[in-house]
Amino acid sequence: MTAQARGLSRRLLLSRSAAVVGASSAGLLLPEIVRAQSNKVRVGFMLPFTGTYAQLGVAIENGVRMAIAEKGGKLAGREIEWFKVDDESEPSKGVENAQKLVQRDKVDVLIGTVHSGVQMGIQRVARDSGVLSIIPNAGVHAATRALCAPNVFRTSFTNAQPTQALGKPMVERGLKKAVWITWKYAAGDDALEGFKNSYTKAGGTIIKELGLPFPNVEFQALLTEIANLKPDAVACFFAGAGAAKFMRDYAAAGLKDKIPLWGSGFLTEGVLEAAGPAAEGVMTTLHYADSLDTPRNQQFRTAYAGQFKLQPDVYAVQGYDAGQLLLRGADAVKGDLSNKAALYKAMETAVIDSPRGRWTMSKAHNPVQDMYLRVVEKGDNKVLGVAEKAVADSGAGCRMG
Ligand code: PHB
Repeated sequence: MTAQARGLSRRLLLSRSAAVVGASSAGLLLPEIVRAQSNKVRVGFMLPFTGTYAQLGVAIENGVRMAIAEKGGKLAGREIEWFKVDDESEPSKGVENAQKLVQRDKVDVLIGTVHSGVQMGIQRVARDSGVLSIIPNAGVHAATRALCAPNVFRTSFTNAQPTQALGKPMVERGLKKAVWITWKYAAGDDALEGFKNSYTKAGGTIIKELGLPFPNVEFQALLTEIANLKPDAVACFFAGAGAAKFMRDYAAAGLKDKIPLWGSGFLTEGVLEAAGPAAEGVMTTLHYADSLDTPRNQQFRTAYAGQFKLQPDVYAVQGYDAGQLLLRGADAVKGDLSNKAALYKAMETAVIDSPRGRWTMSKAHNPVQDMYLRVVEKGDNKVLGVAEKAVADSGAGCRMG
């Protein structure tokens, strides 16, 4: 047991014995489970609320709150106390910020985050403390591969999942030589894994890999290099405010009508207004599309837009599903989140009825889900079809327990 875990279990012991003394002196020795259920569930958000991913954090929080509000605003009858930390998408503060929620606020559940580098800090704290952790975005592979854990569940994707579906439709359209461009950090590197696999398997060649540090948006020199390389297409991973700037700069450099732009679908999520006409025609693959024509998606979109005066995007959906997954687990253990075996079992076997379509959890706790091929049309991510069904991450190296 680590020193940290010893500290935690000692604190738990002290607070439990204090409760028992209090109860017995009042003449009623309540079983611990009743005490636990009468307490509020402490739910912590660790998300970016500033910086290039700020909007993503807001959409995730909205989605979680909406799912829980739809079921009466409680978890299996227990009220919720919410906590929030702005992680600023700053990896160097990842551990410290996660500890604020786990040690200072003593949350029962930590929901976070967006940025893969920051997620590695959360993963460390989650593995050390055993606190239930739900990842509503960050796609860093390690979290559900070599560093997977029984108490960590992801409701989003691994970064290789969307790009795993990207290569084939590009080659089918005769785009056989591509330049890859991304922010150089875990998310971009992991996204390249999926693109490389799918594109080369379909017969494509990546002629150059370009990168710049996150969250740098000085794209000019790289766009000039792309113009000189004259590939058939460009494929990329960018997201948030930086993605909108990339599409605007790509168009302004005169590349939009010459070299088709493709990407992991985050490129066009939540930024279509900011990108304006520069986004029209951009092709992407992702596990969601605004125009998915299902009653479930339409009901979700209408409710979200009504409640938040914003159009939902994939981040809102992933947050919504984090809320749904938590509700499912809490219901299965009647609100007793300390019943970990039953809680995790329920979460592992849940079938989530998502606006993106139904999905299940892989053994490593990552969604198995369909990937859609989309095109931006009149400011909307229009679905062209399913690019690949039931895409699962490899989960390589994951050993639970
Ligand atoms: C990530 O860092 O894993 C990440 C960030 C933003 C996205 C997708 C993935 O839209």
